[in-house]
Amino acid sequence: MNTVCVVGSGYVGLVTGACLAELGNRVVAVDVDAERIELLRRGEVPFFEPGLEELVRRMSASGRLTFTTSYATGAAKADVIFLCLPTPPLPNGAADTSILRTAVEELAPLLQAPYPVVVCKSTVPVGTCATLHRLLEQISPLLGAVPVVANPEFLREGSAIADFMHPDRVVIGSHAPGCAALVEALYKPLNAPILTTGLKTAEMIKYASNAFLATRISFINEIANICEHVGVDVAGVADGMGSDKRIGPSFLRPGVGYGGSCFPKDVQALAHLGAIHGVQPRLLRSVMEVNADQGKRVLHKLRTQLGRLDGATVAVWGIAYKPNTDDIREAPAVEIMRLVEQEGGTVRAYDPVAMPKAAALLPTVTMCADPYAAAAGADAVLLLTEWNEFKGVDLTRLATLMRRSILIDGRNAVDPGRAAAAGFHYAGIGRGSVPEPPALSPVEPNGRVDAIAAVPVPV
Ligand code: UDX
Repeated sequence: MNTVCVVGSGYVGLVTGACLAELGNRVVAVDVDAERIELLRRGEVPFFEPGLEELVRRMSASGRLTFTTSYATGAAKADVIFLCLPTPPLPNGAADTSILRTAVEELAPLLQAPYPVVVCKSTVPVGTCATLHRLLEQISPLLGAVPVVANPEFLREGSAIADFMHPDRVVIGSHAPGCAALVEALYKPLNAPILTTGLKTAEMIKYASNAFLATRISFINEIANICEHVGVDVAGVADGMGSDKRIGPSFLRPGVGYGGSCFPKDVQALAHLGAIHGVQPRLLRSVMEVNADQGKRVLHKLRTQLGRLDGATVAVWGIAYKPNTDDIREAPAVEIMRLVEQEGGTVRAYDPVAMPKAAALLPTVTMCADPYAAAAGADAVLLLTEWNEFKGVDLTRLATLMRRSILIDGRNAVDPGRAAAAGFHYAGIGRGSVPEPPALSPVEPNGRVDAIAAVPVPV
């Protein structure tokens, strides 16, 4: 058993600390946010991550996980100190490592021989760990003996605990092989491949991995956009591609584009890194352009089906940037709702968990109790996050609640045949030619439909 200090109790830090405690270590989690620490001490997790609250409570009850705002308490007797701190984008797209530097400056005077290993788990530009090591040396030449290790995380929100406990690989970068031994020992119980590399290689593996996954998403979105014009359903194309072992099936789901706190900022930071070294990041720029356009394409579909957004009521299903999280950072849905309102549309929205965070950001959007309530009286449903509960929705009932039967499926979560059979004008992403339902009664803008033509429901 080791004594581990985890600095930063966000998505990555809290999952890392709770899982290392689960593996038998004694973990002290440090965060400068006193409110967050109080919440955590009460066994409450300030964001939605399946299984995390229960794990934190269990580890706290076992005494192996404690929380403090004090760096001194955290660093005392620590064998390993993980830095799990945000590296948000600067205006020029570069990653801001100032929070990391501040943490190292706070920790430096607390470090005593035999020195703990300082592990950077944050996603950082290539060269940052070496810079942090130099910072320690500048503070005190003795701290040159502190090993600094790069250990990037590959956790997906919504499945972070499983991703920590069952990694495809653990990457550990260091400037001297001996430094990584203690960190390797922490991960040994996971029985996963451990790749030991140099510091910069580990830092680059993280950026390159995220940028590649983002590239796959923009690639399949571009293929989907082409499919729409040649009457091909991209789902069949993705299946055919993914069956090739060299390609694989993952990250080939087209949609309204990627969001979250990682892909957008990491692709931007890597592009910036290339640009400052004279390597024009043409591919990475295209990945970002395709992604930015994907949300606009969904709006175009909506405009095409509605005629105009001014005066229309649009029900948005799903706000979080992906299912099983309440994270709305860079969520395509937020931007899309803002654009609908800018064009004079009224937005009603539903998300199983993200509405509290979204309400603060979108005060003019009506947050509803369930997907049907959001769709009541609406001219169109815009599905933007593929929560499971949307996949089996009662489309016949839905059609009776809406003013018009338009379903724009931004995540290809609903079966087009089912939608057409229920009388919906359906548009997905790259779904090729979709069966059209019977023509709708004409509707004046803001007008009421005298009677939605009774569409015989096949028995
Ligand atoms: C990602 C990386 O997967 C993870 O390894 C890294 O540590 C952090 O960033 P995360 O952002 O939590 O994880 O979620 P992920 O499941 O990768 O999805 C990212 C975005 O891509 C979401 O908006 C999702 O909707 C979108 N996506 C994902 C697609 O549009 N299509 C896909 O096929 C997969």
